Amino acid sequence: MADRGFTSSTQAVPAVGSVPRHVAIIMDGNGRWARKRFLPRMAGHTRGVEALRGTIRAAIERGVEYLTVFAFSSENWRRPADEVTFLMQLFIKSLQKEVSRLHENGIRFRVIGDLSRFEPLLVKAIASAEEQTVGNTRLHLTVAANYGGRWDVLSAVNRALAKTPGLGEVTEEAITAELSMSFAPEPDLFIRTGGEQRISNFLLWQLAYSELYFTDTLWPDFGADALDQAIASYRERERRFGRTSEQLTAADDVGQHA
Ligand code: IPE
Ligand code: IPE
Ligand code: MG
Repeated sequence: MADRGFTSSTQAVPAVGSVPRHVAIIMDGNGRWARKRFLPRMAGHTRGVEALRGTIRAAIERGVEYLTVFAFSSENWRRPADEVTFLMQLFIKSLQKEVSRLHENGIRFRVIGDLSRFEPLLVKAIASAEEQTVGNTRLHLTVAANYGGRWDVLSAVNRALAKTPGLGEVTEEAITAELSMSFAPEPDLFIRTGGEQRISNFLLWQLAYSELYFTDTLWPDFGADALDQAIASYRERERRFGRTSEQLTAADDVGQHA
């Protein structure tokens, strides 16, 4: 981790700024948005893509460096087959339509999750979008698809073990380096729309010290204003990382706490 310049929040206290460097969002509530309008759930998913577009734009304008969004969980395969198929098609279509715009806006696109269950067309579209945007640095946009936090930690532990000669101990650094978000600092701000207050197997390891923000706003209604409200709430938090409030004030006095 250290070679990438990111601090593990449990090993050292990371720098804290007024804008969250990394925002992670569970985009929830598409189905309920549609149901309220007597529309099929799929209409909610389609509008959800538009909400994501607006949120990406707003995140860039506010200076967020990493935006990570949960699009499809490893448990979402349990949904009706027609909804799963629709979501996969929507993912392919959105990628094909949006990738050049992402690139023009300097966005580096990545997908995290187990891609092995996706159809080849989708895997190809993902690989090509990742390749096309590999040199961009303005915003790191990561879409979690067929992602599960437990899968991520387990895969990382197994990879770390495979690299450990003999039966040595696996360290926190070794696991962190193998996680699918090893390229990013830990999320400063976690947002879940749609009113539920749970993690639903999102970034379990990385959310250890993230500020959690829950809103009843349904994902298709989310955008710049809603992001600003979340960031405003974030700014009011005191990120202590185990320390006391007095210690933070003392650090402020000597200019160590941004
Ligand atoms: C989130 O919206 C999108 C996905 C999980 C793919 P939902 O589809 O979960 O919407 P609700 O929670 O049923 O309203
Ligand atoms: C979490 O939403 C996953 C995504 C937004 C992709 P769900 O709607 O699937 O979560 P649960 O089932 O309510 O926990
Ligand atoms: Mg939901």
